[in-house]
Amino acid sequence: MIILGIETSCDETSAAIIEGQGSNVILKSSVIASSFALHTKTGGIIPENAAREQIKFILPVIEDALKKAFDTSDTFDTFATLNKIDAIALTYGPGLIGSLLVGVETAKTIGYVLNKPIIPVNHMVGHIYANFISANSKLNARRYMLDAKIEFPAIALVVSGGHTDLLLMTGHGIFTLLGGTRDDAAGEAFDKIARLIGLPYPGGPAIEKKAKKGNPKRFRFPRPLVGSTDLDFSFSGLKTAVLRKVQELNRSQSLKNIKPDPQTVRDLAFATQDAIVDVLIKKTLKAAVKYNVRSILISGGVAANQSLRNELKVKSEKLKVKIFAPQKSLCTDNAAMIAACGFYNYHPVSWREISADPELYFSQ
Ligand code: KG4
Ligand code: ZN
Repeated sequence: MIILGIETSCDETSAAIIEGQGSNVILKSSVIASSFALHTKTGGIIPENAAREQIKFILPVIEDALKKAFDTSDTFDTFATLNKIDAIALTYGPGLIGSLLVGVETAKTIGYVLNKPIIPVNHMVGHIYANFISANSKLNARRYMLDAKIEFPAIALVVSGGHTDLLLMTGHGIFTLLGGTRDDAAGEAFDKIARLIGLPYPGGPAIEKKAKKGNPKRFRFPRPLVGSTDLDFSFSGLKTAVLRKVQELNRSQSLKNIKPDPQTVRDLAFATQDAIVDVLIKKTLKAAVKYNVRSILISGGVAANQSLRNELKVKSEKLKVKIFAPQKSLCTDNAAMIAACGFYNYHPVSWREISADPELYFSQ
């Protein structure tokens, strides 16, 4: 079985090839082109710009993924290898409509011309499947096995720029939504707060970097809903708390001119990361205990955060639960996770049945 994965939901254009049967599955190639440098200039993503970049990248990215997987050289031979694939695993939502359409129409065209079926993949479920691409069993410099020893039931925490969701996973593709954010997503909080304190987009990595030299004792921000009985999150209050603190530190200046000094930026970054990580871990562990699970899977862009990864390991030591986090390059958007999801949830349909769904959520 050979699956081509395609991911274009936001500002990354990605294609990947997975090949295998049963438990012998290999990620043969994974190519990602990101337009984030463009969005850094505008302080965030302008959907129209992201869609235009998707159009620019999609064919070269697919070509590159095929070349790496099948060791071809010229363009004609490379695209001819599309005949070898069994199905296309495709992100059809959620995401930015303009970006999604580029992947959807490309996949439908390949499906129509070469008579290949399409496996529609929910981007958020795709993120969870990045955990199935084992970080530890590399075949060679660029090929990974899909042999992570994940046991069900599992709690999946999906933390990205658009979502913060806790799910119970009892088998492949079988999810129950346990809780989610009532306002901003965790990644969105990182991005908005970064902007507030003068750090570039994307905010998560920028805050993580500054937090390393932050003074842990200088600021402490509230942890909304941390003690609530439900498994929901709320991050918009954190953004307000940081804004208030910055205003307090800059009483004499107008809001537009806010520019905390470099050490204050590091200290604010530390306290922001500390609050977000603390809430994410407490709620995830609460869910793990409540549902007596065997595994915890974290995923999404925020799962690349080293404090989150480290602290979750430390704080879960007393529980009999295995912690999984994707390799960092597969935390942010990529097609390898989409192809993996397609492999474990092989429900192909005709290209005629595919359309983009920007508002897609977890179906129950
Ligand atoms: O999953 P993703 O690539 O795109 C969405 O589907 O949204 O996640 C992007 C988000 C951004 O908000 C970014 O700031 C955050 O993930 N992020 C991080 C880190 N790397 C990316 N947040 C915290 N720490 C990081 N190292
Ligand atoms: Zn994503």
